[in-house]
Amino acid sequence: MAPSPVAARVANRKESRSWFEPPLPAPMEHWRPWRPRVGLAMPDEHAWWQRGVVYQVYPRSFQDSNGDGVGDLPGVLSRLDHLAALGVDAVWISPIYPSPMADFGYDVSDYTGIAPVFGSLEDFDRLVAAAHARGLRVILDYVPNHSSDRHPWFIESRSSPANPKRDWYVWRDPAPDGGPPNNWLSEFGGPAWTFDATTGQYYYHAYLPEQPDLNWRNPELRAAMLDVLRFWFDRGVDGFRVDAIHHLIEDAAFRDNPPNPDWKPGMSPARRLIRAHTMDQPEVHDEIADMRRVSDTHADAHGGERVLIGEAYLPIDRLMAYYGADLSGFQLPFNFHLLSTPWRAREIGALVERYEAALPPGAWPNWVLGNHDRSRVASRLGPAQARVAAMLLLTLRGTPTIYQGEEIGMMDVPIPPERVQDPWERNVPSLGFGRDPVRTPMQWDAGPNAGFTRGAAEPWLPLAPDHGAVNVAAQAADPRSMLSLHRALLALRRAEPALSVGSYIPIEGAEDVLAYERRDTATGRRLLVALNLGGQERELPDAASGRRTLLSTYMDNGAPRLRPDEGVVVGEPAAGLSSPA
Ligand code: GLC
Repeated sequence: MAPSPVAARVANRKESRSWFEPPLPAPMEHWRPWRPRVGLAMPDEHAWWQRGVVYQVYPRSFQDSNGDGVGDLPGVLSRLDHLAALGVDAVWISPIYPSPMADFGYDVSDYTGIAPVFGSLEDFDRLVAAAHARGLRVILDYVPNHSSDRHPWFIESRSSPANPKRDWYVWRDPAPDGGPPNNWLSEFGGPAWTFDATTGQYYYHAYLPEQPDLNWRNPELRAAMLDVLRFWFDRGVDGFRVDAIHHLIEDAAFRDNPPNPDWKPGMSPARRLIRAHTMDQPEVHDEIADMRRVSDTHADAHGGERVLIGEAYLPIDRLMAYYGADLSGFQLPFNFHLLSTPWRAREIGALVERYEAALPPGAWPNWVLGNHDRSRVASRLGPAQARVAAMLLLTLRGTPTIYQGEEIGMMDVPIPPERVQDPWERNVPSLGFGRDPVRTPMQWDAGPNAGFTRGAAEPWLPLAPDHGAVNVAAQAADPRSMLSLHRALLALRRAEPALSVGSYIPIEGAEDVLAYERRDTATGRRLLVALNLGGQERELPDAASGRRTLLSTYMDNGAPRLRPDEGVVVGEPAAGLSSPA
């Protein structure tokens, strides 16, 4: 009797011996710390921010150098070798500017300084130089929607209705009953308007009262904020992640937002209203185009491009507008859809196709699995699927962003009530909006405070209880760890243009299996990615037949079938790949 097609495929694979050939050297052995010198032209038409991988540092929690329990810039500098060994290309640092820290740096009181808790401008310059010397780009956070209420601009603005800076913020008269001018709500709970008794008007704040919204309809404010970009570009930064961009402009007529019929208890109080007049207003695209013009006139010393990455949590069709008319907007409007799409092969596959299909011509995709605002991927999906998710992130078409700690599988950390820091959790307690659990200190080693701080001061947030086992030092010594997997994925991505810049072709997979091919159009080289998003063993797609496992999330040579929670990259070994550096 003829064997079933599946059995024949498995048998063929055995005959071709491709599953049983001697193992490739462990990925670390053929990892080469190759990097272009900053600014050197790439061998093809792709920019560094297209080929590269971004790593987000949340500086309060990365590395403390002075023992005060809060991370700082010299701390980041001292850990750059971790990033270089990991194999990322750019580091985005969350805000480091002077700030009363009501929202932990997202309330800026001086856009062109460094908060003493993080260090000094000299520390910053040293960090940029040290990063560039390692071929790492530096991306800063730009917070244009709001300043701190302690910013000198706001102090002036609130001093009198006649002050020249009055119109740099959004002021309105009370409603006839003395209440707020309209029904707009703050993202962090409560009304979005705060009354100022001195001048008898309300000011608008999309977030905390300590974060008054800047008025981008005022030309002087706009010019001052664009100068902020110039200041940092002149200091050598390679780009910006632009905070909360969808909130930048509000309805000129200040119309009430309509009620949201889908709101239910347990959802954020701000979602009681549809944010029709406070978010994603059409005028925002002119402002982004202005930012982009400034960015484009600041090519680096070697003619390299600067990058602008926009933060906007929007449906795919609305997100696409943030690339701008004729790509005059952000190079990378953050794509957060992996954070909210159900973790099932069909849904994720459909998301990728929908996103790819929606991209305007010439627009470059990007993907995000986590950040300082969202539950960690290992907590959302479990540690086994977090490995599959890492392979997805680093093999999809487009620029990936890795959040600090994801490379070792850090989990959300429960925060006892007395240690809560996040203002969102304080304002809207116990509904799960608190972001402290994803901001706990980076776990470097099994020593005291996980190597995050060596001082007497307690870290500003508690350490994860698992830090004795889950840390960089332990995982660096374990060839199958999450860290080793990340290093191997990043090395493979660097070695394989098919993965960094190749095309994306979906492939039919078995139940629970998300499969696609990445093809380098220049050379025709094809790699197959097959991800088992479930806990059952599954067939590999036919296209894998006779090809070899280049990388498995199990960190071994693969198996004839896809094991539970396994992801693989399959292909013919590339000529240069197995030769040690
Ligand atoms: C962005 C930041 C978040 C901050 C908010 C207000 O969403 O990522 O951390 O609280 O903007 O600035």
